[in-house]
Amino acid sequence: MVALARPIDVAGAARAAPHLGASGLSIAYAARGRRQTVLHDVDIEIPRGAFVSLIGASGCGKSTLLKAFAGLVEPAAGTIEVAGLTPREAVKRRLVGLVFQDATLLPWKSLLDNTSFLLEIADKALGRRAARARAHDMLRLVGLEGAADKRPGQLSGGMRQRAAIARALTLDPEILLMDEPFGALDAITREAMSLSLLDIWERTGKTIVLVTHSIDEAILLSSEVHVMGLRPARIVETLAVELPRPRGEQSYGDPRFGVLEQRLRAQLLHSHAHRGDER
Ligand SMILES: Nc1ncnc2c1ncn2[C@@H]1O[C@H](COP(=O)(O)OP(=O)(O)OP(=O)(O)O)[C@@H](O)[C@H]1O
Ligand SMILES: [Mg+2]
Repeated sequence: MVALARPIDVAGAARAAPHLGASGLSIAYAARGRRQTVLHDVDIEIPRGAFVSLIGASGCGKSTLLKAFAGLVEPAAGTIEVAGLTPREAVKRRLVGLVFQDATLLPWKSLLDNTSFLLEIADKALGRRAARARAHDMLRLVGLEGAADKRPGQLSGGMRQRAAIARALTLDPEILLMDEPFGALDAITREAMSLSLLDIWERTGKTIVLVTHSIDEAILLSSEVHVMGLRPARIVETLAVELPRPRGEQSYGDPRFGVLEQRLRAQLLHSHAHRGDER
């Protein structure tokens, strides 16, 4: 059956310190001369090696939470830890890879250069040749090996997004923070990409935090789904996804998939119904 709000046990990780964690986290933005609290008193623990999704209505603070883990926004209150460090320190040590909603590629560089340059800068000892070979492997993984010499302007939005994923993977971080990485992809490519991400996760044991609007994607990929709600913005429910692995298209037919889907849909509908109160 579907277990609710229960810590998962990924290789015994639930007993160890979480790989990413926030406690009493509040974040406020200054908007039109006043402070708007976006996240209020958020507690979350993400075990090492987990694949976790964040889902919730637009504007509920999913990207903000991811940015906090990436050290890009500072907490107004509470604590946040990434691999036992402050987020900024973890990013500095290359433990964290980021894929954001908009693929930010350098327009004057080829796809291969865009994919390899961060690694070239970060690991001078590795050498340019090895960095580019790894970047090439990652482009192949996301199906872009044929476009390695193209510039971002010559690509579709979905191709740019896949290049951003390849760039993050090239650095081989312990933790991947992904903000709607498949948003610009067509349905079939999206499914293929999410299954290849699942494969990468299974082979590498990375900790992945994925923001998605897709209920199916969240269930198919995750070990745990955190549902975020508004008023105040916080985590309203945590669902453990106890579908057998390896997962694939056959997982959709598992009766537990349908139960989780209904549960998530109900939570999201509830959260949408209360959006009007927020504005
Ligand atoms: N830099 C900023 N300055 C001021 N307000 C911001 C800033 N970034 C986000 N916000 C506000 O914070 C709230 C949460 O935004 P956030 O981008 O985290 O939402 P989200 O859940 O990722 O939404 P979506 O699903 O649409 O991407 C929104 O009300 C947004 O307007
Ligand atoms: Mg967002």
